[in-house]
Amino acid sequence: MVDEIGAGVNKLIRGDMLHVASLLAPESFRLIYLDPPFLTGREQVGSQAHLAYDDRWEGNLDTYLPWLEERLRAVYGLLLADGSLVLHLDWRTSHYARVMLDGIFGRQGFINEIIWHYTGGGRSKTRFSCKHDTLLWYSRSRRPVFNIDAIRVPYKKTSGYAKAGIVAASGRRYLPDPRGTPVDDVWDMPIINPLANERVGYPTQKPLALLTRVIEALSNPGDLVGDFCCGSGTTLVAAQTLGRRWLGSDVSAAAVDCAASRLRDECGLTGNLSAEKIG
Ligand SMILES: C[S@@+](CC[C@H](N)C(=O)[O-])C[C@H]1O[C@@H](n2cnc3c(N)ncnc32)[C@H](O)[C@@H]1O
Repeated sequence: MVDEIGAGVNKLIRGDMLHVASLLAPESFRLIYLDPPFLTGREQVGSQAHLAYDDRWEGNLDTYLPWLEERLRAVYGLLLADGSLVLHLDWRTSHYARVMLDGIFGRQGFINEIIWHYTGGGRSKTRFSCKHDTLLWYSRSRRPVFNIDAIRVPYKKTSGYAKAGIVAASGRRYLPDPRGTPVDDVWDMPIINPLANERVGYPTQKPLALLTRVIEALSNPGDLVGDFCCGSGTTLVAAQTLGRRWLGSDVSAAAVDCAASRLRDECGLTGNLSAEKIG
């Protein structure tokens, strides 16, 4: 059983992503972003008891990895021929997932391993603190949509190049780009601080700035963007704000309700957000 709530051409669906993927048209998404459970071995609970999802896996990797692989294979066929998948994990499983994705997309499908580095939270006294997540970007094409100029960032204030450019041995002078410098594969971005306006209390909610960068870089206005573990709906809010079409789903009713509220409150959507059933 899958519950769907619609907002014009965009859709929010409640259901296991495996089932949801089986209902969707092949080759329709320019970008699919997935932020599944990370195998933390805990129930993830947000600011209220009902904002929670279970990340405990009996059998650990032996249960989790086949679960993930089945779902990655299911969404692969939903991508356009030049579409991109971004899979967001951390140190626990990203290395296994990368090998898995090589198998699904072929090794040539690997584009980038993006390190999202953040600060904040506790510090370990027994090892280096784990302060990054990994975003694996794969595509069915060698030349997927990539709007690098849309996500340029200001040069560092200390950059000599930014101040005066550089003169090569040949005598040619290179000047800084007034639009800023292209982003590389290590992204320094804070996690959502506890008092930030965008925090809605959903556990492991990702920052809008992170999803805004992913969507701007890897899709064009009007493209369809999917997130089948959408949680609080961060991807959907960013996609709506950036003029992309979107389809979001989550197995949890609380997540889908939370995402619907955000789409109403942050994007001003007023469409029919009451649940209807499909499948
Ligand atoms: C890491 S959270 C996503 C957080 C989200 N990116 C955000 O910014 O709020 C993982 C989500 O995956 C969902 N999930 C777990 N198993 C699922 C499944 N089989 N199908 C769809 N969603 C699932 C959980 O309910 C949870 O909301």
